[in-house]
Amino acid sequence: MRTQVGIVGAGPAGLLLSHLLHLRGIDSVVLEARSREYVEQRVRAGVLEQGTVDLLNEAGVGERMRKEGLPHHGIELRYGGAGHRIPFEKLVPGRAITVYGQQEVVKDLIARRLADGGKILFEVPDVALHSLEKSPYLTFQGERLDCDVIAGCDGFHGVSRPSIPEGVLSIFQRDYPFAWLGILAQVPPSAEELIYAHSDRGFALHSMRTPEISRFYLQVPTDASLDDWPDERIWAELRARLETVPGFELTEGPIFAKDVSAMRSFVAEPMRHGNLYLAGDAAHIVPPTGAKGLNLAVADVRLLTAALADFYETGSTELLDAYSDTCLKRVWRAQHFSWWMTTLLHTFDADDAYGGRLQTSHLDYVTSSTAAATTLAENYVGLPFEPGASHA
Ligand code: FAD
Ligand code: DHB
Repeated sequence: MRTQVGIVGAGPAGLLLSHLLHLRGIDSVVLEARSREYVEQRVRAGVLEQGTVDLLNEAGVGERMRKEGLPHHGIELRYGGAGHRIPFEKLVPGRAITVYGQQEVVKDLIARRLADGGKILFEVPDVALHSLEKSPYLTFQGERLDCDVIAGCDGFHGVSRPSIPEGVLSIFQRDYPFAWLGILAQVPPSAEELIYAHSDRGFALHSMRTPEISRFYLQVPTDASLDDWPDERIWAELRARLETVPGFELTEGPIFAKDVSAMRSFVAEPMRHGNLYLAGDAAHIVPPTGAKGLNLAVADVRLLTAALADFYETGSTELLDAYSDTCLKRVWRAQHFSWWMTTLLHTFDADDAYGGRLQTSHLDYVTSSTAAATTLAENYVGLPFEPGASHA
């Protein structure tokens, strides 16, 4: 088999890349370890930046998102017995976020690729990458797929990044002393907007998926197991961390999904080796507090599409050569923002009284200074894409 771009992984990065390449007349094959059902049901991100929404719309895959997605024009920071709204409409006019589940984006992209005759091979768990510095190819289940370039879109635990020879990559990493327990509940949201709540008991996040489904997260110890968290304990902890302002009452309902996610910051540089280009979580991870991971994956594949299209149209490798450096500028901005939001909102060592005072001062500043709140808002809704790398 032969294709122009061999894509490993059918997450948001791999699927969107395959679709954007198709729009530019470039052929690709996507190889995915898991089943279609599994990737369509995997519950993860929920917040789409303005630029991500615009890109999905321009690429013709935004129809259901426009109908079912929930545009939000602010978030609440809640701490010390009070809520403080960060008003995007005032601080970053014209820019907002849309709450729309990652698995819905994945479903929309898979449906569109298949309708367009795209090739996605599911349940190929044994993908291997070869000859990255010359004529690259992929092997799986006794087959061989020759390609001009390979796009490693297979997430943090994938096979692409480890296929790069030792000594090539520089790794930058930070782990956090807590994890997130996430739930989906069949209950209308208890507030119209997202609530990021800081309390002595730990961080809690009120989010949603639809007018009938709520999504919540709780800061939990790194070794937390779902067995330790029966439904009653989850609701009790959410109440204790969120019902901290007068008049706010949490509406409870049946929980139908639970997950625990580690919190990590990670960057592998450069995001390219020979003819292998890494995109999304395969190259970088952020803690979810800033809601940036999926959005970064989208920004990467947007640039990779522009670079590959330029290469096929003109023969120039200029944009491909610049791919890693261009991506990493945005990646590091998101790294900083995600670390900053995580540090601002989580509960760290209770014995560190000095750290606690700094955190309160920082929260007071962000919720009282227009300059500080604007910093949060413009990063949260997403900085504009850099000029000169249009995808279409
Ligand atoms: P992935 O989604 O991990 O996709 C990689 C794909 O590759 C998977 O389908 C996997 O099965 C496949 N694969 C792996 N190994 C192989 C292999 N060897 N061969 C073939 N295929 C393979 N981001 C946001 O922007 N906003 C948010 O609100 C947000 N909230 C989050 C909340 C939580 C709790 C978590 C955990 C993450 C959140 N994120 C958020 C991050 C976001 O989910 C990820 O950054 C995003 O999934 C990255 O997409 P990706 O396509 O790069 O990788
Ligand atoms: C969601 C996830 C996030 O990481 C975040 O910061 C906000 C919302 C969500 O899944 O809804």
